Amino acid sequence: MLRTIHVDTGKPYDIFIERGIIDKCGEYVKKISCAQKVTVITDSNVAPHYQWRVLNSFEKQGFNVTTHIFKAGEESKKLSTVSEMYHTLAEFKMTRRDLIVALGGGVTGDMAGFAAATWLRGIDFIQVPTSLLAQVDSSVGGKTGVDIPQGKNLVGAFHQPKAVLIDPDTLSTLPNEYINDGMAEVIKYGCIKDAEFFDSLAAFNALEHIEDVIEKCVTVKRDVVSRDEHESGERMLLNFGHTLGHAIEKIYDFKGISHGMAVAIGMILMAKAGEKEGITENGTSKKIADVCIKYGLPTSDEATFEDMVNAAKGDKKTAGGCINLVLLRKIGDSYTKKIKLDDLLNFIKTD
Ligand SMILES: NC(=O)c1ccc[n+]([C@@H]2O[C@H](COP(=O)([O-])OP(=O)(O)OC[C@H]3O[C@@H](n4cnc5c(N)ncnc54)[C@H](O)[C@@H]3O)[C@@H](O)[C@H]2O)c1
Ligand SMILES: [Zn+2]
Repeated sequence: MLRTIHVDTGKPYDIFIERGIIDKCGEYVKKISCAQKVTVITDSNVAPHYQWRVLNSFEKQGFNVTTHIFKAGEESKKLSTVSEMYHTLAEFKMTRRDLIVALGGGVTGDMAGFAAATWLRGIDFIQVPTSLLAQVDSSVGGKTGVDIPQGKNLVGAFHQPKAVLIDPDTLSTLPNEYINDGMAEVIKYGCIKDAEFFDSLAAFNALEHIEDVIEKCVTVKRDVVSRDEHESGERMLLNFGHTLGHAIEKIYDFKGISHGMAVAIGMILMAKAGEKEGITENGTSKKIADVCIKYGLPTSDEATFEDMVNAAKGDKKTAGGCINLVLLRKIGDSYTKKIKLDDLLNFIKTD
């Protein structure tokens, strides 16, 4: 069954969720674009599984199509990889009316989107996300970019896709660790906006209802992002668990602990802090921890609160000696609270 979610940002577009949609990319693009050439950008893990299916679907519709494959992994998410993409785009003589396809996880989407945002000062692109994280999070919202040695995602642009085509069947080849990783973001959506959805994650196996889960997450993100396209207010709620999560990732130098694992711990610590401060309903952190365990995510780490605060102090989101924390009143009910960095340690410290 096809599910369509309309996104009404400055440049409106649709998100389509359907099993097998990956074989229909060409048909969908034909309806929304007058491109003649299509460059499919993908990574070395995703290419062997899906590049031919995507290429065939474009060829069948009469597009002139080429592929650019880069080495899979976050280490590739840098300007020199994007430079190589520009090389392919130039060789293939991609014009302003042509189109880029981002086929892969969040790394591919962020970089291919950034190449589309900057090639000839901006051409169209579509997202075909193949990791759970990309399907529920990174392919929606229009953020594109790369890492630089000074930090992750420091260089980028807002560039909305022409469409997002989500094929839940692609998750069948995604390694389990990345399924767990994506589940941390899924749990996050329940925590910040939807108690009923959160309860369903606890009651059922999310993977057996993956289309419902993706549709729910994308709808929550769509609602938040369309109210706040350029991240000033409400979009901050999507950072629930991420302030301490990022701090933990940084302590381990982004190795050994994945983003989802760190976010899971971050969500639980914020709920615990909220309970201690009398802001968050008692028992909330336990509920989150139980769901995290169910989906293979950790609930604690050996890093100290002092280490986390030191790491958080270097974060790009800690402007002017203050930090915006996302807190829960209860599951499904979140808000942001600005506190001084100097008060952070006391705020988060629990035993
Ligand atoms: N733009 C945004 O709003 C946003 C939001 C969240 C995260 N991100 C970014 O997303 C990135 C993380 O995304 P990710 O976890 O998808 O990483 P990723 O793109 O590296 O994918 C994870 C791994 O799974 C492989 N893979 C992907 N789909 C597959 C499939 N169907 N079958 C087999 N293997 C597959 C990839 O090759 C990679 O090895 C980070 O760089 C992060 O900064 C961006
Ligand atoms: Zn995240």
